Amino acid sequence: MATPAPSRPSRILFVCLGNICRSPAAEGIMQQKVKERGLSSAFDIDSAGTYGGHAGDLPDPRMRAHAARRGYRLEHRSRPITTDDFDRFDLIIGMDDMNIENLRRLAPDADAWTKIHRMTDYSRRYAHDHVPDPYYSGADGFELVLDLLEDACDGLLDHLAGTDE
Ligand code: 4NP
Repeated sequence: MATPAPSRPSRILFVCLGNICRSPAAEGIMQQKVKERGLSSAFDIDSAGTYGGHAGDLPDPRMRAHAARRGYRLEHRSRPITTDDFDRFDLIIGMDDMNIENLRRLAPDADAWTKIHRMTDYSRRYAHDHVPDPYYSGADGFELVLDLLEDACDGLLDHLAGTDE
């Protein structure tokens, strides 16, 4: 894939509620995909939650186990989003309506507001309009999250590389 060399890394922050299921999985998947494309140095990828109650925790063991079966090691430590993140990152990508609403409430200015996007806006193969919270779901919920995130990360990468239609 021909990718224009960016002058500085694209800084992407994935955001969900607890930062122990969806957003750390998105972070791990995206990191793996940029690595596979030889683009690790072109990206700065992180994740955060709008709720800080799990701060310092590794991802949920169920999310780690399902991700590990697909070859992703999730070792992010949960952290709450801060106002500084709106300066530090170029794209702030929420998983569902509640995440987007919370992010818009936290955005310090109009520039920050324009950085907020929805993960499923980058979907290619799925028509879902959000990545559902798997916390109270069974194994199927975690598998669906991974399916949606893998697909949307591909779409996001193509979008950033300018190779999407
Ligand atoms: P996440 O999932 O937002 O994908 O990390 C959740 C994690 C924890 C809780 C809810 C959702 N919780 O209620 O503690």
